[in-house]
Amino acid sequence: MNYNSEPARDGLRLHLNENTAGCSPAVLAALRAIERTDTAFYPEYGPVTALVERSLGIAAGWVQLTNGLDEGLHVAAQAAARDSRDASTVIVEPAFEMYAACADAAGLRQIHIPPPEDLSFPLDAVLRALDASVRLISVTDPGNPTGLPVPANAIARLAEAAPQAIVFVDEAYADFSGRTAIPLLDRYRNVVVGRTFAKAYGLAALRAGALIAHPDTLGLFRRLLPPYSLNIAAVRALEAAVSDRAYLDWYVGESEQSRRLIYDLCRRAGFAYWPSEANFVLVRVGDQAAELVEALGRRGIFIRDKSRAPGCAGCVRITAGVSAHTRICVNAMEDILASRQN
Ligand SMILES: Cc1ncc(COP(=O)(O)O)c(C=O)c1O
Repeated sequence: MNYNSEPARDGLRLHLNENTAGCSPAVLAALRAIERTDTAFYPEYGPVTALVERSLGIAAGWVQLTNGLDEGLHVAAQAAARDSRDASTVIVEPAFEMYAACADAAGLRQIHIPPPEDLSFPLDAVLRALDASVRLISVTDPGNPTGLPVPANAIARLAEAAPQAIVFVDEAYADFSGRTAIPLLDRYRNVVVGRTFAKAYGLAALRAGALIAHPDTLGLFRRLLPPYSLNIAAVRALEAAVSDRAYLDWYVGESEQSRRLIYDLCRRAGFAYWPSEANFVLVRVGDQAAELVEALGRRGIFIRDKSRAPGCAGCVRITAGVSAHTRICVNAMEDILASRQN
């Protein structure tokens, strides 16, 4: 089935790794079916949680839904800060900006690990940075903004090296990579996996995420979360979204094609890029990064300037969504680059 859509009314948004097609049509049908009384009563999370658990192939009790993954990140930081006055968190750069914001809100001291030149995951440097004060280690797999995988043994090594810490594996983009740390959760009770339904499922505006861990580990998070994090629209949307596997598969395929289109552009233009397991590609365009982002913006195409992120000088990040949308961006970039050479 073809779920293609025109770029959104306010332009082609390729700067926040959103789903450029929108949600599954089944989600809209579910939203339209909401009745007056549905909005009047506090939502019931049992059925939707069971559907999410089934879609992830995990047992009942291992999922806690959240108001987007951001809420999960906040609650992880609060949990980490709770029992110690000098608690710290390890943030592996270049990192998703919310890790620092959540640490700041919770009063955690931040230990930032700079990246190696190739931006690969610096496991040894992270291990060296661990001390008794570390209560939270945030790991993004695949990484944002790099799209790179975290080495297979890294999560287990970190969980063993810092048993007093929560190892938070942010799998916001795991629907694209197909890899997950979920099989480790029974063995390593200090590991928590975070997921979002904002990206591959196209529910960013509805806000739905999940924390996945052993039920004993989730207990503390549940105590810290408010009782009604998801509203009824998010609940109904999520039920429909996780039940529509065909849509997810189609979108993941589109994103793969889009990444190839971006790689081809990079080869033609002589730009370095990082092969990505996520729905975006980090491209080193050099000192023209800001100008290029601006020139595309004037054409209604928005990509993200990541030049100021650690290790990312001269880099932009381009969302790889619907391939027809990516073609529009690639053609515009080539047009702008050609006009500069003339
Ligand atoms: C690595 C990472 N984690 C978490 C999030 C936030 O997800 P949500 O929109 O569900 O709060 C994002 C969104 O960009 C992300 O890139």
